[in-house]
Amino acid sequence: MGDRRRTALPAPVAAGDDVVTPLEAAAEEWIAPYWNAEHLRQTRDWLLVLEPEASEALRIAALTHDIERHFPGGPANDLSVSPEDGMDYRRVHSERSSAFVSGWLREQGADAQLIADVQRLILAHETGGADDEDLLQAADSLSFLEVNVDLPERWAAEGRCSLERGIDQHRWMFERISLPRAREAAQPLYERVQARAA
Ligand SMILES: [Fe+2]
Repeated sequence: MGDRRRTALPAPVAAGDDVVTPLEAAAEEWIAPYWNAEHLRQTRDWLLVLEPEASEALRIAALTHDIERHFPGGPANDLSVSPEDGMDYRRVHSERSSAFVSGWLREQGADAQLIADVQRLILAHETGGADDEDLLQAADSLSFLEVNVDLPERWAAEGRCSLERGIDQHRWMFERISLPRAREAAQPLYERVQARAA
């Protein structure tokens, strides 16, 4: 959070001060057991920094977009190829998350339009596209760069890939951001992970 305040963007919404709908609160509870729930919560928080008026569909998509990784049987991220060559994995990851989230939303009795919007957003969270999809993708990148700063070291320690390949994941997450204000906020976070390899 400290790095974020060095940017020209407004301070994030203080925890507990923002208006959260019952469905958003339920989503926070649903994702809590996931090992990287912090990344999902920070994606929602970055979304609100980038767009304080973000819709409920965007906030719920931000909070849930990676949830398939919580459930066994998902696709594996092949770290022997470059991030640019991992788009098949990302498509399957996005489709699987979208399926879990839409099933959960139906169980909650959510409105059909909201479910359709959340599905569309999650399916596009790796690629962006429409304005709201670009927002979600940028918030995901910012949260990744912020929360997963030690991921390259962890992947290298686990023998999954070289430290350089791990840092390349951050490079890709940084470069895919299309919103200028989000890129500006991401720059110091990307520099921070690069410095760990120096
Ligand atoms: Fe993510």
